[in-house]
Amino acid sequence: MASQGVEAMGITTPRHLALALALAIVLMPRTINAANKRPQNSGIDKNLNVIDRCWRSDPLWRHHRQRLARCSVGYAGKMTNNIGPGVTCYRVTDNGDDPMNPKPGTLRYGATQIRGKVWITFPKDMNIKLHRPLLVSSFTTIDGRGAHVNIAGGACITLLGVTDVIIHGLRIHNCQTQETVEVMGPEGHIIRIDYPDGDAISVISSTKVWIDHNTLYDCGDGLVDVTHGSTDVTISNNWFRTHDMVMLLGHDDGYVQDQHMRVTVAFNYFGPDCDQRMPRVRYGFAHVVNNLYQGWGLYAIGGSMNPSVRSEANLFIAPDAGRKEITWKLRGKGGSDWNFASTNDVLENGAVFTQTGDVGLEPHYNRTQAFRIGDATSVRSLTWSAGALSCLKRSKTRC
Ligand SMILES: *[C@@H]1O[C@H](CO)[C@@H](O)[C@H](O)[C@H]1NC(C)=O
Repeated sequence: MASQGVEAMGITTPRHLALALALAIVLMPRTINAANKRPQNSGIDKNLNVIDRCWRSDPLWRHHRQRLARCSVGYAGKMTNNIGPGVTCYRVTDNGDDPMNPKPGTLRYGATQIRGKVWITFPKDMNIKLHRPLLVSSFTTIDGRGAHVNIAGGACITLLGVTDVIIHGLRIHNCQTQETVEVMGPEGHIIRIDYPDGDAISVISSTKVWIDHNTLYDCGDGLVDVTHGSTDVTISNNWFRTHDMVMLLGHDDGYVQDQHMRVTVAFNYFGPDCDQRMPRVRYGFAHVVNNLYQGWGLYAIGGSMNPSVRSEANLFIAPDAGRKEITWKLRGKGGSDWNFASTNDVLENGAVFTQTGDVGLEPHYNRTQAFRIGDATSVRSLTWSAGALSCLKRSKTRC
């Protein structure tokens, strides 16, 4: 539309110009009315968190999809290795899945078979049932904006020994545990995966990963697990609901490599019906900031093996009945050198945060990781649109 307009201007006669002006005047109030009808969009820029404001205030975001890579914050830093010259733009047109011989057009082909930087989009709504875990290659972006993309009812996503991956805008649910399987991995290697445990997104021995604006629920094991020495991960703007063990950071008590793990958990909405692990941390450092907790069962934030957690400017709404304590600490073999710090959190409905150890912990972000943290009293609006967004089809409407 825009380019036609520009061409027409080149041959404009005065009469055309008058017509164009008249049209503009007629159309203008309508545009304003349309904006007013969508309450979630009124004053949109003011209420957006720092990540969303970076791209959602651009009405032409569809034409600038790759700008998203500059919007990440926290330990993942900016995802600028995913963009630049030589990016392959790949469209998923086929919802099928062949784990050993992926067909062009399928998600698996785009995510595993293309070398170099790949930016994957979905021209229309799609339900994808993966028959085995999807191993995503380094320098890959899966960008579900503009379509309803469900990955459900089968295996789900695994990042295994990779770097620079963005997972954005997907609905991942009802992931199933499986027997040991073989699957075609990056660069044509056949990879054996022992007993995939049904996580929605499993991040294993991987670095620089950004998981943003996904809706995750009802899976066999965790929703997001970050394990086996993974680090520099940001988990933001996701909606986690209806699940027992939500987020695991750190593999098991014997896996000391996870002491280098650094994860940012920001602007997520937890609930309703999440029981525990939001997150559960072993070793490592988690900066948990500006999230909304709509109740919990056992606990919200917990851990073992001397983890460090800085909980900052979150809104914790305790469940009406049951445990009001936010934290859970596995003592005894779980170590005694804990740091659980709460800074500027807002506690509602009787919630209690018991601090331990060094309560002055700092995330020590560098220039590309640092971001402006919102006040806990504005967390409801900062997390209002957590989860996969419904962006309308018309290119002029905002996402
Ligand atoms: C910030 O830290 C990350 C992770 O350690 C590193 O990769 C990046 O180069 C650093 N950026 C700057 C500007 O120092």
